[in-house]
Amino acid sequence: MTVFPIEKFKELKTPFYYYDMKLLEDTLSLVKKESARYDFHVHYAIKANANDRILDKIRVKGFGVDCVSGYEIQKALDVGFSPDGIVFAGVGKADWEIELGLKNDISCFNVESLPELEIINELAGRLGKKARVAFRINPNVHANTHHYITTGLDENKFGISMPDLEALLVQMQEMKNVQFEGMHFHIGSQITDLDNFKDLCLRVNELQEWFISKHLFPKIINVGGGFGIDYDDPDNNAMADFAPYFKVFKDFLNVKAGQEVHFELGRSIVAQPGNLISRVLYVKEGVKTKFAILDAGMTDLIRPALYQAKHKIENISADKSSQKLRYDVVGPICESSDSFGKAIDLPEMKRGDLVAIRSAGAYGEVMVSRYNLREEPEAFYSDDL
Ligand code: LLP
Repeated sequence: MTVFPIEKFKELKTPFYYYDMKLLEDTLSLVKKESARYDFHVHYAIKANANDRILDKIRVKGFGVDCVSGYEIQKALDVGFSPDGIVFAGVGKADWEIELGLKNDISCFNVESLPELEIINELAGRLGKKARVAFRINPNVHANTHHYITTGLDENKFGISMPDLEALLVQMQEMKNVQFEGMHFHIGSQITDLDNFKDLCLRVNELQEWFISKHLFPKIINVGGGFGIDYDDPDNNAMADFAPYFKVFKDFLNVKAGQEVHFELGRSIVAQPGNLISRVLYVKEGVKTKFAILDAGMTDLIRPALYQAKHKIENISADKSSQKLRYDVVGPICESSDSFGKAIDLPEMKRGDLVAIRSAGAYGEVMVSRYNLREEPEAFYSDDL
């Protein structure tokens, strides 16, 4: 359970991110232990949080990295990840990004379309390289999550559709500079019902038989990320339940001799260790509700505004036993969507109180914007304070 060093916080300029490094360490150890049980490989999805201190811990634990831009590849290289642990996905890889991956001999390009495969083949030829590729296939499997973070349905832009896959295999016969490595999937994010992953496994089993019938052996089965966390109760569920998660893949994926199973976990690794710490600026009586106006806004954490996400909000200055009042907790940005939660019962909020917005380590700091010309929030770490 994250304990906030409130006296230290009082000296700091808000808003800022605060990372519980012990919780991150424990989470990484658990992921390692539960994945190693079945010899599964985990690539950390760097898009969730690309903070140097966080990346350093992840690298030291021996994880690979899943990137979706050349900038992310460069970052992973700069902080010392080995290129042979880097995979590269994304529907719109620019030429320079492909070249960067090729020049650094990254382990795999997760290809999302035929035109992309053609360009990778051409650029690899020019550089005298052979690109290792896996096909990101759109499996048309439901994720039962917010529609903005669903990726594996026919209507989503991601992955190769089944009709295209057939054509792609035919064309690949002519390509000299690509080497088929396997299959890649990612059905969505913040998935808490393990049945969705079971459905994915069953679909992957069918697809790999299809590949084998075409005389192609998928050496790598990359099932993506997407495992969800408990946003309601970050203290009692500070770490996601990784044991049953990995076990679903062990139980339902038909892994053949010589195959490797890869994962790309982001949120479930870094969400709970991160918190956005803010101060109450004003409490304003509205006609229907009281507004607690914070100095943090959607520019610091966009998830509530963009996905109607609910992060637990805590008044960490208040005595927990004090009587609760009902507030709409909002930020200072000139947008009505700049709200962290409506009708939240909290101990009385007073100007200057410190507020923690919990579970903000994934897709928090990395999605900060400078709208209204605000400053980017700083980050502080439990092992420094
Ligand atoms: N692999 C691929 C190809 C992905 O697109 C993603 C996330 C992941 C792995 C990692 O998924 P995770 O384990 O973190 O669920 N900004 C949104 C989430 C966007 C997820 C994008 N792709 C949010 O704040 O909920």
